[in-house]
Amino acid sequence: MAYGQTGTGKTYTVGSLGKDDPSERGIMVRALEDIISNTAPANDIVEVSYLQLYMESIQDLLAPEKTNIPISEDPKTGEVSLPGASVVRVKDLDHFLQLLQIGEANRHAANTKLNMESSRSHAILMVFIRRAVQENAVDEMISQEKASRADLPGRNSVPIVRRSKLLIVDLAGSERIDKSGLSSDTVHLK
Ligand SMILES: Nc1ncnc2c1ncn2[C@@H]1O[C@H](COP(=O)(O)OP(=O)(O)OP(=O)(O)O)[C@@H](O)[C@H]1O
Ligand SMILES: [Mg+2]
Repeated sequence: MAYGQTGTGKTYTVGSLGKDDPSERGIMVRALEDIISNTAPANDIVEVSYLQLYMESIQDLLAPEKTNIPISEDPKTGEVSLPGASVVRVKDLDHFLQLLQIGEANRHAANTKLNMESSRSHAILMVFIRRAVQENAVDEMISQEKASRADLPGRNSVPIVRRSKLLIVDLAGSERIDKSGLSSDTVHLK
């Protein structure tokens, strides 16, 4: 999670695409690069959601028409999910760069005295990774999942799946309003 004063390089460090120069890539791209190089499409599923929290409302950065997304917590497992948020399966690094670019274009930013492109929302990248323990079991994993969701027979033969979730957060800057010259409608609520 990147936290700190406005203009100190949070978005640069976390979200830079580095399209022309890989040494300019930020943490989000580097993390996905690493994950993609350690996964195989036949065995693993890598999916992302990209959201922003602005004025106490969660909006889908990949489908901006989805606003006020609720937060739900499974009472049994404690797992937190965001029903309705898009979850996109990442094909390769170029595909992920496209998704980040779409998200960045939809993100709230404002020109302030301290930062010409100051993030006014918190951005949350969620990466979901699933690995079937048997080889070449991704198709089976998907079909079994559908079956178990519909509560159909076949639950017992669900393959063993390892799940992992990575969250990367780029917070909106903290600053004194008088210094940044912000108006009230561009100040995010914390
Ligand atoms: N290490 C760096 N090298 C070159 N430029 C940088 C570096 N870090 C930040 N910058 C530049 O400084 C400016 C401010 O950085 P950035 O937008 O990442 O700040 P921020 O912490 O996200 O601010 P805010 O909280 O207002 O969103 C940007 O123009 C960015 O490109
Ligand atoms: Mg920022």
